[in-house]
Amino acid sequence: MTAIAIDGPAGAGKSTIARAVAQKLGYLYVDTGALYRAIGLAVFEQGDDTADPDVVIPALKQIKVELRFIDGEQRVFLNGRDVSADIRRNEISMAASNVSAIPAVREFLFELQRSFAKNNHVVMDGRDIGTVVLPHAQVKIFLTASAEERARRRFEELTQKGQQVDYDTLLAEVRQRDYNDSHRAVAPLKQADDAILADTTGNRMEESIEQILKIVEKRLCDVI
Ligand code: DC
Repeated sequence: MTAIAIDGPAGAGKSTIARAVAQKLGYLYVDTGALYRAIGLAVFEQGDDTADPDVVIPALKQIKVELRFIDGEQRVFLNGRDVSADIRRNEISMAASNVSAIPAVREFLFELQRSFAKNNHVVMDGRDIGTVVLPHAQVKIFLTASAEERARRRFEELTQKGQQVDYDTLLAEVRQRDYNDSHRAVAPLKQADDAILADTTGNRMEESIEQILKIVEKRLCDVI
């Protein structure tokens, strides 16, 4: 099986690019952030503090997260309920980042993530795919862009969905999430030694997709 790992901070364009690469190659696209978001949503909906391990860890016993692929599109289920739209709410981003810092949460999701790569050719995106989840992935990309540009993209995405957001607040949230994700003790966001760095600042999305497809195709030719 072939695995392509795409890691990087929030808003670098990982999901759009990973989806396009998967489509081009006929691979399964797995968005691992959705799993952390589902757990963040579950704890948030209980009205609990998503950063408190003493409430998050016991809550895991009542949580079943599944990914189902319908016409190649990933849907996320929390205890049998399709939460694919709910997990995209802006307040769930920080909830996901909070729960993802708890080692028991990462362990809880580890095998599930690995199982997709065992049975399918995958493009998997996240924060620790190339470093921890799939350290033997044939292609690893670390995708990034400036915090300002990532906040601006997020602003456009959420505004288009009709959510009321403020650019400066989003920028502060992007920076806070970068800090959380890269400073946690377990599996922090960092570039794997053998990952290729791609900075998409200033690119149009189609340009970034082209850039990454070229890298992936060249790398696959070299390694397979
Ligand atoms: O990619 P995203 O914004 O949907 O991810 C939500 C949060 O989940 C992110 O802030 C950090 C966490 N995450 C993680 O810790 N490891 C992953 N492989 C994917 C996401």
